[in-house]
Amino acid sequence: MTEAAAATEADPGAVIVAREVSKTYDLGETKVHALRGVSVSIAAGDFVAIMGASGSGKSTFMNILGCLDRPTAGTYLLDGIDVTTLGKRQIAGIRNQKLGFVFQGFNLLARTSALENVLLPTLYAPVEKTEGIRRAQSSLELVGLADRTHHFPSQLSGGQQQRVAIARALVNLPSILLADEPTGNLDSRTSVEIMELFQVLNDKGLTIVLVTHEPDISQFARRVLVFRDGKIRKDDPVQVRPRAREVLQALPAVDDD
Ligand SMILES: Nc1ncnc2c1ncn2[C@@H]1O[C@H](COP(=O)(O)OP(=O)(O)OP(=O)(O)O)[C@@H](O)[C@H]1O
Ligand SMILES: [Mg+2]
Repeated sequence: MTEAAAATEADPGAVIVAREVSKTYDLGETKVHALRGVSVSIAAGDFVAIMGASGSGKSTFMNILGCLDRPTAGTYLLDGIDVTTLGKRQIAGIRNQKLGFVFQGFNLLARTSALENVLLPTLYAPVEKTEGIRRAQSSLELVGLADRTHHFPSQLSGGQQQRVAIARALVNLPSILLADEPTGNLDSRTSVEIMELFQVLNDKGLTIVLVTHEPDISQFARRVLVFRDGKIRKDDPVQVRPRAREVLQALPAVDDD
């Protein structure tokens, strides 16, 4: 049996299986060991928060999960496929079909409406224009922005911009959402609102991996991994998981219409 086959057999319900994943950046004079043997399985439908000090390897690991980067050693199976053996074109296809990304800086196109921003990933998928627009509209509806489709990013609040980015990440109906500090630029109420959305999406079956520096935010997930020096030092289920919707009701309201 191949190593990859053995890994899938060991974790039948897993959509993400990393085995002894290492990443070394070779800078000529020095080598940076960003990941030093990370092994973890993430089940379909899980909601995992990744915490850890700056430089501990969280983004490096997310980039590998998102097939934006390759490990130096180890295996990574996405839905049972060993992506480390695939070519660029196949990886791009898998990324577009299975994965959605959200980043701290929203990364929206400035002179482009919310709808057009969300539409963008459908242009690289086998989807007709009218179907793409329909999907982009329903994606914006899902994140609560049905009434903001023609606004430009500069006409939206930070939280609304992040919602547009989430709608864009969801437009090709991925099974996994990868979010690297999505609330890093948002105030605390808006951060909890984003977590409310993540909990709703997770309840519908979306697998979520979220990097955060904030312990309060990590508690909205189902499981928390803590990275230190390129390794997983802790892996614990969240014992008492708050519902973001209830937390919001207890916070002072703000008017943002
Ligand atoms: N492209 C790169 N070339 C060289 N070194 C890198 C590169 N990307 C990251 N590193 C190094 O790898 C280590 C892990 O970086 P990474 O970005 O994964 O940390 P992080 O946990 O996401 O930190 P933060 O919380 O600050 O975002 C750091 O020491 C960093 O300097
Ligand atoms: Mg990072």
